[in-house]
Amino acid sequence: MTTTDKFAEEASTSPNTPVVHLEEVGKSYGNVHALRGVSLAVRQGEITCVLGDNGAGKSTLIKIIAGLHEHTDGVLSVNGEERRFSSPRESLDSGIATVYQDLALAPLMSVWRNFFLGNEITKRPFGRLDDRKMKRVADEELTKMGISIPNLEQPVGMLSGGQRQCIAIARAIYFGAKVLILDEPTAALGVKQSGVVLKYIVKARDAGLGVVFITHNPHHAYLVGNHFVVLKLGRVALDTHRADITLAQLTNEMAGGSELESLSHELRGIDPELVVEPQDRPGAI
Ligand SMILES: Nc1ncnc2c1ncn2[C@@H]1O[C@H](COP(=O)(O)OP(=O)(O)OP(=O)(O)O)[C@@H](O)[C@H]1O
Ligand SMILES: [Mg+2]
Repeated sequence: MTTTDKFAEEASTSPNTPVVHLEEVGKSYGNVHALRGVSLAVRQGEITCVLGDNGAGKSTLIKIIAGLHEHTDGVLSVNGEERRFSSPRESLDSGIATVYQDLALAPLMSVWRNFFLGNEITKRPFGRLDDRKMKRVADEELTKMGISIPNLEQPVGMLSGGQRQCIAIARAIYFGAKVLILDEPTAALGVKQSGVVLKYIVKARDAGLGVVFITHNPHHAYLVGNHFVVLKLGRVALDTHRADITLAQLTNEMAGGSELESLSHELRGIDPELVVEPQDRPGAI
């Protein structure tokens, strides 16, 4: 039985167990406390959005789940079993695929080589790469996801940021990931490309994956999210389900409602014209 099969079997026997569960997790870099007492449950078939300002601890959180950094406090469980990853390979072998904004793919390699990077298909008996099969499968899988890339021989570096994110998502689904972590996949994208990426995030969720979507943008989060977690200075400031929050409330939480109030007050002192009225605030209805 492969690790992925074992993982799928465990997940299917206990549908209510969060696939990834953090309990009171903390991380210190020397005397910098990047995370303190963070609890988070990621479930299959759900998009969990992790929001927060710069330095809030979002990347640190996913680095712990992805096996790049070890947590210094608390418990990380995968499928109900306590884990402590000491390498990204261990996290990947547990069915957790992480897509980083810039490091997702090798820019000089072709689309199909990138699709199979680290999982190449080889021919028996000499173990030579089966280029033809890899090209065919990459083409089929990208078409299945509705991703149109006219020439799979093209180096990935020539594609748009949105197309690159989509290839990375399609690859994670094809190789049997159960959890997909995306660190700010729409941060550098325009409106149209963000829309395309958001569509594939929903496809990954509908394929049964537990998706962790990290973003600064409450509008993007609210378009697709089932569950929202806001981090502030390394702590969980909000953890709620979609039914219990509106976009306006989420945006206000992100903008830091009371901080915005005092900023508005300060700005009024500098220039009376510079007043942020409640109806002008992002997310106000
Ligand atoms: N390797 C490190 N060594 C020391 N401090 C670090 C390290 N990585 C992160 N930190 C600190 O931990 C805190 C959280 O950083 P993190 O990168 O997780 O934030 P973030 O929410 O991802 O921010 P951004 O939105 O800017 O990406 C920051 O204060 C940061 O300076
Ligand atoms: Mg970050």
